[in-house]
Amino acid sequence: MKKLLTPLLALALAIVFAACQAAEPSSSVPSSLAPSESSQLSSAVEEGAASSSQLAEPSEAPAGSSALEGSSETGENGGVLIAYFSWAENAVLEEGVDAMTSPSVSDPGNVQQLAGWIQEETGGELFSIQVTDPYPSDWDACLERANEERGQNARPALVEPQVENLDSYDTVFLGYPNWWYGVPMALLTFLEENDLSGKDVYLFCSHGTGGMARSVEIITEAAPEANISDNIFDCYEEDAPASQGDIQAWVAELGLSQPQETTSSETEENDMESTQVAVTCGDLQVVYALNDSPAAQGLLSQLPLTVEVEDFSTNEKVFYPPQELDASDTPLAEGGAGTLAYYAPWGDVVLFYDSFSANSSLFELGEAVSGAENIGQMSGTITVETVE
Ligand SMILES: Cc1cc2nc3c(=O)[nH]c(=O)nc-3n(C[C@H](O)[C@H](O)[C@H](O)COP(=O)(O)O)c2cc1C
Repeated sequence: MKKLLTPLLALALAIVFAACQAAEPSSSVPSSLAPSESSQLSSAVEEGAASSSQLAEPSEAPAGSSALEGSSETGENGGVLIAYFSWAENAVLEEGVDAMTSPSVSDPGNVQQLAGWIQEETGGELFSIQVTDPYPSDWDACLERANEERGQNARPALVEPQVENLDSYDTVFLGYPNWWYGVPMALLTFLEENDLSGKDVYLFCSHGTGGMARSVEIITEAAPEANISDNIFDCYEEDAPASQGDIQAWVAELGLSQPQETTSSETEENDMESTQVAVTCGDLQVVYALNDSPAAQGLLSQLPLTVEVEDFSTNEKVFYPPQELDASDTPLAEGGAGTLAYYAPWGDVVLFYDSFSANSSLFELGEAVSGAENIGQMSGTITVETVE
């Protein structure tokens, strides 16, 4: 959608643009971060508004809600804080604003989404920077107020100025949208209220075609003693909703991904996978790693066993556990020497020491992890027991 400015706003933007050109030569901004001041301006005016994501249903004002939320206790995981500003959490839907005809705030916000994914990856604490006086949800009106605040070098008041237990965080992810070639002024309020000196700070930013513009310089000036990494995540506004994979890769690259939580069934599976049984015959021994099948569990539940091992054919030794095994949901055996199997029709456990043909009644219990070469020599009494 082509954005039309009111003549008054256009005049104001032109004046600001001229002032920026004079005060902030484009050479002071790395070209990779800011193509040019004029493209940043057109981004703020056109690209930001033209984004279809900006035209979605606006959100109700969340400004009064608690800023700090996360899945873990404060300061866990080496103390990771994810502080961010997003328009969607700093706006109210005003009477008479029609999101279908007037570009408006979208919910969730782009930076808000990025922050959520960082939280998922790091397990850190989310802190939504929220102003006490929410911005208009209408694009033009928000642009105008943001520009006024920028011109006044304002420090908008925050609902929750300070992060509780800031000392417990060594690592801070700081997220923001590009607002007027820089940052929302509320971000500067946040940086003045919360001393990030000595902390490792990782910036993430969503923006229009203006890129990150002067934002990194502004933040560096506001937090000169913070260790601001130059490994910054930024994404174009329309790409933000599909950036979860990129966020995951970025956090992993930073070495800040939390270990994946193991579910109880996975734990059980791992335990089963690592369960080993030893079959001993005199000086000969073979150790098997059992799978997690019901049949393998059935065998385990009968251990320790002392039984007779018998020859069968030219490739297997067999023994009979006292109780039959439940072969349902148990994989069919395939492979060769070293396979531990269960032949359901006869109820015998088979120790293969040579290749064999798979069949629909032969189920796999596990594989030899050592001593497979001893199987063929076993005869007489064997003991079968769990390896501790
Ligand atoms: C008040 C305002 C000013 C903006 N100024 C710029 C700008 O100068 N350059 C730019 O590339 N994008 C600008 N944008 C676009 C936002 O940076 C972009 O849409 C971002 O993805 C919004 O993130 P959010 O949804 O979390 O607020 C501006 C947006 C707003 C609301």
